[in-house]
Amino acid sequence: MKVTFYGQACLGVQIGETNLLFDPFISGNPLAENIDITQIPADYILLSHGHQDHVLDAEAIAKRTGAKIISTYEVTVWFQGKGLEGHPMNHGGCWNFDFGKVRMVNAVHSSVLPDGTYGGNPAGFVIESKEGTFYFAGDTALTLDMKLIPMLCPKLDFAILPIGDNFTMGYRDATIASDFIECNRIIGCHFDTFGFIKIDHDDARKVFADKGKELILLEIGESKDI
Ligand code: NI
Ligand code: MN
Repeated sequence: MKVTFYGQACLGVQIGETNLLFDPFISGNPLAENIDITQIPADYILLSHGHQDHVLDAEAIAKRTGAKIISTYEVTVWFQGKGLEGHPMNHGGCWNFDFGKVRMVNAVHSSVLPDGTYGGNPAGFVIESKEGTFYFAGDTALTLDMKLIPMLCPKLDFAILPIGDNFTMGYRDATIASDFIECNRIIGCHFDTFGFIKIDHDDARKVFADKGKELILLEIGESKDI
């Protein structure tokens, strides 16, 4: 799998010939000004919840690429109302797509769409594919529900966790999340974009390293093969 970081909680994951795009928020992110959203590939756009810093560019990218939205029922219906294709899910459910199996899992957060429409409950995703399994947590607190993931899913190859604190768990809590999900290779997201979530990168890496874990902090625009 090839993982590309586009800032905040937006990542692309290429599995074979299929491009998944998570939580696109680029045009509103000053840190991502060098990313051209007209160049981002997407076959599916997975949205964890309705907040602006997760959905801002979903419509533009889906209209250009024809990508299908995968999200909660409420968020998906909202995008279907804009003429986009969507696949609605809800928590605890799985569906087999052409690229692999998606399980929608719990997140502890809130969810409202940019126009005030109720977004249902916020979610995370576990993706199982022929190339491996990973967890995209979305915006969430540390929660015991994460312990269900290793009970229900194949061993995770990596996990994408929020680490910026204030609106989500911070990086110290994320080390405990990494214990709960039994995965020691973590890609951090949801940090530095706004003043409330600026973090000390060296300290974050050290807190993980002290527990024998790896915290990967990608530069915006950087890709990594996993
Ligand atoms: Ni949020
Ligand atoms: Mn957020």
